Amino acid sequence: MSVKLVFGTQWGDEGKGKVVDYYAEKADIVVRYQGGNNAGHTIKIGDEVFKFHLLPSGVVRKGKTAVIGNGVVVDPKVLISEIEEIRKRGIEPNLVISDRAHVIMPYHRLLDGAEEVFRGKKKVGTTGRGIGPCYSDKIARLGIRMGELIDPEVLRERLEFIIPMKNRIFEAYGMEERLDVDEVFREYSEYGRYLRGMVGDTIEFLHKNMDKEILLEGAQGAMLDVDFGTYPYTTSSSTIGGGASTGSGIPPNAIKEITGVVKAYTTRVGMGPFPTEQENEIGKHLCEKGHEFGTTTGRARRCGWLDLVVVKHALRLTGADGIAITKIDVLEGLETIKVAYAYQVDGKKITYFPAKTDGIKPLYKEFQGWNMTSGEWEKVKEGGIDALPLNVREYLKFIEGETGVKIRMISYGPAREETVEL
Ligand code: GDP
Ligand code: IMO
Ligand code: MG
Repeated sequence: MSVKLVFGTQWGDEGKGKVVDYYAEKADIVVRYQGGNNAGHTIKIGDEVFKFHLLPSGVVRKGKTAVIGNGVVVDPKVLISEIEEIRKRGIEPNLVISDRAHVIMPYHRLLDGAEEVFRGKKKVGTTGRGIGPCYSDKIARLGIRMGELIDPEVLRERLEFIIPMKNRIFEAYGMEERLDVDEVFREYSEYGRYLRGMVGDTIEFLHKNMDKEILLEGAQGAMLDVDFGTYPYTTSSSTIGGGASTGSGIPPNAIKEITGVVKAYTTRVGMGPFPTEQENEIGKHLCEKGHEFGTTTGRARRCGWLDLVVVKHALRLTGADGIAITKIDVLEGLETIKVAYAYQVDGKKITYFPAKTDGIKPLYKEFQGWNMTSGEWEKVKEGGIDALPLNVREYLKFIEGETGVKIRMISYGPAREETVEL
């Protein structure tokens, strides 16, 4: 019996989907615990590519139960289309959705767009999926939960109370849209009907199954955490380990293995501070070789050097005991590679991530580049980290030395097989 956690240590898109898929082989239950369909997790098995926004990445493996925890915000329309899509591909998901998970409603999506327009130049660059407004309503105690979506009487009552409020907000924003209780009820009660059989008490389910192998799948990354990230350029959920507990109902002390996913360089989608960003040929190399385009929105990701101040911040907030390095292959072909290990702020050196990021200047260590063949990677599968060429080894040893956390896994390509467990 054990509970394992996989989470992102940067600004998302670290390759969590791939790492979760790898660990899911030995799991019985895979749980998404926060975020919504702002996430995009990619899995490559042979020539087949799966992109998941709401379904836990474990669904592609037969015989696993996929859980959408109470901390997730669920757009039922998106979830249903994801279920239909995967069914078409011959997979019947065994899914349990928390009756406490909040529902993304049409007014959340509309308000997400409107708020961004009002922010103007200071917009967050959200995915536009209604995530922020849905979490705001949850905290404001104005939300609709999955358990209410599937109960037509309660749903109707909630809509009659909430929709007039939202229409007044639309009016105040100068928006033309108005929502009609009947229309929204008709559409959403249908979604409720479709999903009814899958909604249940996931807390009871998980606690009854604590003797099984449970894998918790994080979305986004620590720097998008609403408390610890680059606020206000963050998402609206707790993306660090604490969120795994509040978003699933699994107590913190039950989580026995915590893997932080670290992309070998850094990317970020949307606006906000990014100290090691490279708006130059280096950034171009990383974006092109790493195919750094958003899984959810298709936007080009901003790219830059690995930032260990960021990674250390993430690892210590979650108490990670292992690192999964991903996309190490993307660094190939660069003559020299840099890694930020500290920042200079107002002439002072700091090694922690500060709340105020103005005037940060990263301090870098430089490494010699490398090239590796797939045959060489096969040797690493047998010989471990010592079988790696010296330059790669130095790069990885530096990461371990600075963070104090061991590398548990190296991913050197998008496919399932392109993985070395150390
Ligand atoms: P997630 O949101 O953290 O699950 O990551 P995404 O799926 O949004 O983005 C990661 C992208 O990198 C996907 O297209 C993956 O298929 C791909 N990928 C994952 N690991 C590797 C790797 O080691 N090397 C390369 N080249 N691509 C990878
Ligand atoms: P995965 O799970 C990368 C970013 C958005 C925006 C900010 C707020 O695939 O790593 P939101 O729609 O959440 O209100 O947007 O957060 N963002 C992500 N960036 N990967 C993600 O998920 C993201 N989910 C949200 O781009 O900057
Ligand atoms: Mg992603």
